[in-house]
Amino acid sequence: MKISVNGRKRSYTGPAFKRLIDVLREDFGLTGTKEGCGEGECGACTVLLDGRPVASCLIPVEHAEGRKIETVESLAPGKALNPLQKSFLEEAASQCGICTPGVLLTAWSWVRAGGSADRQAIRRHLSGNLCRCTGYQSIVDAVVKTIKRRIR
Ligand code: FES
Ligand code: FES
Repeated sequence: MKISVNGRKRSYTGPAFKRLIDVLREDFGLTGTKEGCGEGECGACTVLLDGRPVASCLIPVEHAEGRKIETVESLAPGKALNPLQKSFLEEAASQCGICTPGVLLTAWSWVRAGGSADRQAIRRHLSGNLCRCTGYQSIVDAVVKTIKRRIR
């Protein structure tokens, strides 16, 4: 089957029910997508499917056939960081390597779609990305900063 991953057409010939996260990591070498719970609860494995955040641990790869997948690697294909990543750096919003890729993609889907800088709305949008060790304040600050820069 053919899948568009980070703007590139990829071919996959394995089992149709293989989880999307496993295809991304094992078949395509895109190890930026991380597994947390493996049960659709934590958001660590988030990728964008046709622009919307989804849990790649719940999706059989066949559901991605002919659709557009974006992983965290798509945010900075060259050396330059994407504006949201820059804000994460400035606000010290990057947390552990397990939750951060998913948080970035969910937040990016909000920023890119023209989401508002309303903190409650941002928190709601990010509510599927869980972290029980650090908190969300700096993440929300980074998202707001990115949106304000865009607006200016
Ligand atoms: S690993 Fe997919 S939601 Fe937790
Ligand atoms: S799960 Fe990543 S910092 Fe808490």
